Amino acid sequence: MIELAPGAVLLPNFAADDLWPAIQQITAAAPFRHMLTPGGFKMSVAMTNCGPLGWVTDRSGYRYSPTDPQTGSPWPAMPPEFLALAARAAHLAGFPGFTPDACLINRYEPGAKMSLHQDNDEHDFSQPIVSVSLGLPAIFLFGGFERSDKAARIKLHHGDVVVWGGPARLRYHGVLPIKPGEHPLTGPYRINLTLRTAGDVTMETVRRL
Ligand code: SIN
Ligand code: FE2
Repeated sequence: MIELAPGAVLLPNFAADDLWPAIQQITAAAPFRHMLTPGGFKMSVAMTNCGPLGWVTDRSGYRYSPTDPQTGSPWPAMPPEFLALAARAAHLAGFPGFTPDACLINRYEPGAKMSLHQDNDEHDFSQPIVSVSLGLPAIFLFGGFERSDKAARIKLHHGDVVVWGGPARLRYHGVLPIKPGEHPLTGPYRINLTLRTAGDVTMETVRRL
C-alpha cells in the first residue's frame, strides 16, 4: 500500500481478472455510451453504470439517476464481488464499512482522457471513492484542492486500486490520454470502475456549469 496523500492510497495489483465477466454482463444490458457534457461536448470516455444509482451527464447537467436514460430501466445490479472488493480496499485505506450505491464504469480507448475534476455530485462526502483500473495502463493525475494545484502523475496498471476519502475526498484528479495497446483481458481499452456512495439523491440535484 502506497500513501499518495493523507486519506489517499494506491493498492497495487489489488483487483483480479474475475471482475471481467460481471463487467461484460453489465455492458450487455447497459452498453457503453459517450455522454454529452452540459456544455455540449461528447466525452472521449465511454460510460455506463451499475448499482442503485448511476452517474450521468447531458445538456441539463451532471447528476445521479436510478435509471439508464437510454432505456428507462434501472441500471444493472451491483455485483457482490464489486461490493466486496470496494469494502476491502476502503477498509485497508482506513474507511471501514464502505457500502457504495453507485458504480460508474469508464471505458478509455486510445486518446481518451479525463480532465481534472472533483467528484462532488455525491451527497455524502464522509464516504471515500474506490477506483479500480483494468486493462491498458494510464497516467493518473492526483492533484490538490484547486484545479490549478500541481498534480502528481501516478502510473496505474491492470489491477491497481486507488482509494481517496476523508481529507483527500475532494482532491482534483484526472487521466492523461491513453496510449494505444492491447491487453489480454480488455483488448484495446482501459476500464475503470469508480465506486461511490452517492447518498440520498431522491431530491434530484443537478449541478450546472
Ligand atoms: C474518474 O475520475 O471518474 C475516473 C478516474 C480513472 O479513470 O482512473
Ligand atoms: Fe472522478
